[in-house]
Amino acid sequence: MVKPVNVGIVGCGAISAAYTTTIARLAGLRLTAVADLDAARARATAEANGTRALSVAELLADPDVDIVLNLTIPAAHADVALAAIAAGKDVYGEKPLATTKAEALQVLQAADTAGARLGCAPDTVLGTGVQTARWYVDNGLIGRPVAATAIMNHPGHERWHPNPDFYYTPGGGPLFDMGPYYITALITLLGPVSKVIGAASRTRSERTIVTGPRAGTTVPVTTDSHVTGILIHDSGALSTLVMSFDSAATRAPNIELHGEQATLHLPDPNHFDGEIHAHPVGGTWTSLPTRAGYQDAARGYGLADLTTTPPTQLPRTSAALALHVLDIMESLLTSTTTGQATALTTTCDRPPPVPLGPLEPRTE
Ligand SMILES: NC(=O)c1ccc[n+]([C@@H]2O[C@H](COP(=O)([O-])OP(=O)(O)OC[C@H]3O[C@@H](n4cnc5c(N)ncnc54)[C@H](O)[C@@H]3O)[C@@H](O)[C@H]2O)c1
Repeated sequence: MVKPVNVGIVGCGAISAAYTTTIARLAGLRLTAVADLDAARARATAEANGTRALSVAELLADPDVDIVLNLTIPAAHADVALAAIAAGKDVYGEKPLATTKAEALQVLQAADTAGARLGCAPDTVLGTGVQTARWYVDNGLIGRPVAATAIMNHPGHERWHPNPDFYYTPGGGPLFDMGPYYITALITLLGPVSKVIGAASRTRSERTIVTGPRAGTTVPVTTDSHVTGILIHDSGALSTLVMSFDSAATRAPNIELHGEQATLHLPDPNHFDGEIHAHPVGGTWTSLPTRAGYQDAARGYGLADLTTTPPTQLPRTSAALALHVLDIMESLLTSTTTGQATALTTTCDRPPPVPLGPLEPRTE
């Protein structure tokens, strides 16, 4: 029986319910407090989960919080993480790690100095989808990996999110919002990246909210809404990326991975599971058995993974990985403005694979 780690959530918005659901069903995690700049949101989340609503300052000072789960908007990720580290807490946060590499480096430095554990979403790559694909790559099914395509075409989050403002500011856009799922999966499959080439466009200067109390109002667009690029991996493999909030629909595969001997078709990396299909050279498409990854996973498994990783090891959702993802995204946007390839200044190890199995469920 594992001793649960006490979790305090900062940021009680749209995604928080997914995390509270996971925390409630895992033996290793216990929700002890929640906070939000909007006290009413914190109270509602606390009531729904039988816990305490505190101010952010109270939560950070609370001895009954071991780790801060940072679910604020991207522009607040670094400040909240820095405050939590200064208060002596470990931190696991939603993606991206920060809105700029410079901010993210400050957070990593602070965590290093304080000896705090720091992890970052996405954790979808820990599920059976991407992990099973990785298992087949590592066991030689596709031969030497050559290239990948990673494609996310979507009309934009203003169609479903009641407060989509942050998706259209720097630190948002399709690249910073959805890119982390795809790029983290590509690093998991093909390893780190040394250089990128990007091109981008911004089709509209404002977006109209479709749902919720603000329906009909517009939000300004201050970041690119269609970003394409090429990621040159250290291994020599080439990934082609398309991240768009300017597309009505798509039939393109989320991720396809091409090796010298076979192609793999992966499920949506924004989900934890899904079928993997393989097509050997000269063969046909077949569905592959699940071989690796956390079963029945959901948002919050990265937090649980972090808390169970021995302190001497980097967690699978390490800040070093999230920093490299952020560097790739920022460098792609730099390349879009300079017209030149951009060399990265960070790297990371491929995170350790996840063996097939569940996390321990709560029984009481
Ligand atoms: N909504 C989704 O489906 C989804 C999915 C995956 C990841 N995410 C990520 O989760 C994060 C949050 O997204 P969301 O959709 O829940 O946003 P949201 O706007 O619905 O909620 C964010 C909450 O954070 C609070 N907040 C902002 N700054 C704060 C601060 N400094 N201190 C305390 N509270 C603060 C806001 O008041 C708000 O309640 C983002 O990084 C997003 O990329 C969202």
